[in-house]
Amino acid sequence: MAAKRCLMIGGGGMAGGWISNFTQHFADRIEVVAVADVSDDVLARQGAALGLGDDALYTDFAEACASVEADFCGIAVPPQFHAPAAIAAMRAGMPVLSEKPIADTLEAAKEMLSVANETGLPCGIIQNYRYAPNKQELVAIRDEGRLGRLQHIVGRYACDYRKPASWGAWRHTMEFGLLFEGSVHHFDMLRFLSGGDCETLVGFGWDPEWSSFEHFSSGIYAMRMDNGVHAVYEGNSSAAGIMNCWNSEHYRAEFEEGCVEIAGGDTVTIHRAGQESESYEAPSIPWHAHLHLFDEYLNWLDGGPPSVTRIQDNIKSYALVIAAMETTTDGQPKRIADYLIDIS
Ligand SMILES: NC(=O)c1ccc[n+]([C@@H]2O[C@H](COP(=O)([O-])OP(=O)(O)OC[C@H]3O[C@@H](n4cnc5c(N)ncnc54)[C@H](O)[C@@H]3O)[C@@H](O)[C@H]2O)c1
Repeated sequence: MAAKRCLMIGGGGMAGGWISNFTQHFADRIEVVAVADVSDDVLARQGAALGLGDDALYTDFAEACASVEADFCGIAVPPQFHAPAAIAAMRAGMPVLSEKPIADTLEAAKEMLSVANETGLPCGIIQNYRYAPNKQELVAIRDEGRLGRLQHIVGRYACDYRKPASWGAWRHTMEFGLLFEGSVHHFDMLRFLSGGDCETLVGFGWDPEWSSFEHFSSGIYAMRMDNGVHAVYEGNSSAAGIMNCWNSEHYRAEFEEGCVEIAGGDTVTIHRAGQESESYEAPSIPWHAHLHLFDEYLNWLDGGPPSVTRIQDNIKSYALVIAAMETTTDGQPKRIADYLIDIS
């Protein structure tokens, strides 16, 4: 089968990672035929790396969507551009695969969802952390009932971003950067690990005086899922002690007959009251993180099953970000159904 032609919106940062994954692991399945990025330096670098002429390099993604013939559009630029870029691509007839979060506002996310529904085009959202051996193993323990029923999960994210710009300058100035850039992954993970969709969310956000962020860098949120499982989340981008940064977030799942602990690496630890703890390496998985999502998405384009984290599902994770933002502001519990009321 011919390689799928990709218009890539974004060429630096995470988008640069996508492009190098495409060329290293998917050279026979993906051909990047054009790149759009506001930075001339990034365009020059990617143009040289991919052997693209100036006519395939765009500073304006709308112009690129209107001119480029491609089989899909990849989007990895800051959040406020996701929905406009995705909508321009889908209106031009291209399926979309976009980085999280879906958008910068609930309205923009719903507009993107409605264009995906209206056009019927595949629109996948990246949630790479689900595709790690220890996360998949925890879900297998739950599904197979190896430790009985699940009652609650505690998730912890903690990164030391106390230096200005240490998490990319724009994340330090944006509003609710923890929620939109960080917690969107962890809320999605708590849905994935609990096996339920969130019914109610409540919590607090704050910015310690010594933070390098202009807005809240920390928060604690509690969730009740629709399958009766509860979850608690601690997010801290001003961490100074125990780190549970990217790929090393700590999750503890409390089951009927023991609890499961996972963090960095592939180790899974099971604690049973009155017994020695048991640690083992989670079984390997064929594709990790973004690679899993790229493979899954290409299969979807070829008629396979839709991406698990397609926009129609992932809006349920995104709604938790909006609910967390609002509970932080007004101190009231939020019913997630209220955020999703007008979507089909
Ligand atoms: N899934 C993950 O683990 C993960 C990790 C990091 C970032 N991300 C996501 O990737 C996206 C980009 O983040 P990043 O860290 O790569 O940011 P970045 O600032 O490092 O890079 C963004 C790139 O987009 C370009 N750009 C900015 N505005 C643009 C526009 N209007 N049109 C075209 N190009 C534009 C920039 O020039 C730059 O090359 C965000 O949505 C972020 O949440 C995801």
